[in-house]
Amino acid sequence: MKEFTQLMGIRYPIIQAPMLGVTTPAMVAAVANAGGLGSLPLGGLSPEKALALIKETKAGTDRPFAVNLFAHALISEVNEEHIQKMEDYLEQIHRRHHLPFERKAISDYRFYNHLDQIDVLLDGQVSIISFTFGLPEPDVIERLHAQGIKVIGTATSVKEARLLDKAGVDAIVAQGIEAGGHRGTFIEGEPLPQVGLISLIPQVVDCVSIPVIAAGGLFDCRTIKAAFVLGAAAVQLGSYFIATDESAASEIYKERLLNSTDTSSELTRAFTGKWARGIRNSFMQEMKSSDLTIPYYTYQNSLTSALRDYGKTKGIGDLISLWAGQSASRGKRGSTQSLFQELIEQLEGEPNPVV
Ligand SMILES: Cc1cc2nc3c(=O)[nH]c(=O)nc-3n(C[C@H](O)[C@H](O)[C@H](O)COP(=O)(O)O)c2cc1C
Repeated sequence: MKEFTQLMGIRYPIIQAPMLGVTTPAMVAAVANAGGLGSLPLGGLSPEKALALIKETKAGTDRPFAVNLFAHALISEVNEEHIQKMEDYLEQIHRRHHLPFERKAISDYRFYNHLDQIDVLLDGQVSIISFTFGLPEPDVIERLHAQGIKVIGTATSVKEARLLDKAGVDAIVAQGIEAGGHRGTFIEGEPLPQVGLISLIPQVVDCVSIPVIAAGGLFDCRTIKAAFVLGAAAVQLGSYFIATDESAASEIYKERLLNSTDTSSELTRAFTGKWARGIRNSFMQEMKSSDLTIPYYTYQNSLTSALRDYGKTKGIGDLISLWAGQSASRGKRGSTQSLFQELIEQLEGEPNPVV
């Protein structure tokens, strides 16, 4: 098997995870310039916005970086009653904060997925694309490969990893249950996979023929080495970088993250309708006890966005999604470059260096 670093054209097998709402072009460029693989999150963004962010990243680095897309299907049939009940509920919360609540007709919603973005990405000359929330279609993978673009998929179970391998991706992120943010799960109608990374990596490694990238709860030399010992070819760290200078996370988010403990986070559908791990707050708790049926991902994500924006601007940590993994408290303040360099120094200082 070709070395992961050689395959992706990078120096170190360490990836800064794509984190929509947190990762900035400056963060991606800093990791790329330090020899790692930065990942620019573009999930759900308009093609124009996606292209602008790629250009901004390229202005900061001439090294390879990955862009990240959401490969979920866009559901057009929705339960309007569930949406209406959710709107009523959210309107009450808005009122508590003297915020207007805007209702939109279902037909006025506009969502984007990977299929809307592919053409622009081919124009934008990116060399690596990672996907989450889905299995990219065979013709999409073929078009990307024809342009020399490497394709990375995300799996949360052995079954998903097998499907991605069969579909022809070049590498797979194995996302353990420790991971912050959304579950990349894409097999619907089955219990949500909740496999810990120590179980997931070796089982995925044993059943696929391509490099496996470990994600979830990694933050230092010990955790990274453990992932390599289990068979990972690379590691992907998200929460570790949330409190950096280049992060778009608000100050209250950074504070809650750095003051969190191993048990502060849980899985929730409250903010977006899709399962994601975040630090517990009162919005999550209230939604849990509300008995409401949470609408499909893209709608719920839109319905709560004004509240989350308000919470971010006003520094109200109980209104925003505090996506974070089980090791999130081990993140650090400082420049992205210094946090990345710290990992490299730790790893190179080992008696048997793994990078
Ligand atoms: C704030 C945040 C946002 C995330 N957004 C994305 C995303 O846009 N695309 C994606 O593939 N993964 C996303 N993830 C998941 C990460 O790719 C990765 O699986 C996770 O950060 C690894 O766990 P860790 O946070 O414990 O390091 C996100 C994670 C966080 C914490």
